Amino acid sequence: MIGLFDSGVGGLSVLKAITENGIKDDFIYFGDTKNVPYGTKTKDEILSFTKDIMEFFIKKGADCAIMACNTSSALVYEDLRKKFSDKIKIYPLIQYAAPFFKNEKETIGVMATNATVKSRAYTREITKINPRANIVELECQKFVEIVEKMLYSDPLSLNYIEEKVEYLKNAECKKIILGCTHFPYLVPVFKKFAPDIEFIDPAKLLIKSIQKELFVNQSEESSFEFYVSSDPESFKQSGSMFFDIKEQPKLAEFAKV
Ligand code: DGL
Repeated sequence: MIGLFDSGVGGLSVLKAITENGIKDDFIYFGDTKNVPYGTKTKDEILSFTKDIMEFFIKKGADCAIMACNTSSALVYEDLRKKFSDKIKIYPLIQYAAPFFKNEKETIGVMATNATVKSRAYTREITKINPRANIVELECQKFVEIVEKMLYSDPLSLNYIEEKVEYLKNAECKKIILGCTHFPYLVPVFKKFAPDIEFIDPAKLLIKSIQKELFVNQSEESSFEFYVSSDPESFKQSGSMFFDIKEQPKLAEFAKV
């Protein structure tokens, strides 16, 4: 069983990428809708939310947990690994995506949440293996709300998106990492403003490096269970735009207290 979590519907982009890659398993997805957005929270808050999620996955019998969330990969992966590595294997996004930029010479743009950009996790992880990499990180926190509330065609949202894309274009970025799992949903809009820029989804890079491990415990057919910490109905509504959620999302017991 593979657990995936995010603050909301963003991590469904990771689940989608995994299933499109032909990996079949029993999937359990947790959307922390009570605490969304993570990008404006402190490290201590995110650590407390994600510890509960790890314990929930362990209780459910998951063999591994994919952190389908850049913000928690940036801030708390090391803490979670130290606390839970004897019980569950944890895969963070940023740390697995970074090695793919080993030989990158062009300027790399990163769009991410407030907390991810503040942590400089992308710069930290990429320069570990490519010390001369030139990385421009840009906070795009409002994209999370645009996706969660489906505000794609709202003129104010479009202005905000255009401003952010222009900034990275002016910084000479030829490639932009979608440093938040909510952002792949906005690629068609980004492309309108920057048709020549390559937008890179780190989930696809993570999957490339771990797919052999994930294929080991495969099932014949996939099964899906969706849990949230509040409002299952609106999770289903906005999530269904991105993933075929047939099963009714449930409110997780630990989140009820
Ligand atoms: N989708 C998450 C990420 O990748 C969290 C976004 C948020 O809740 O602010 O960072």
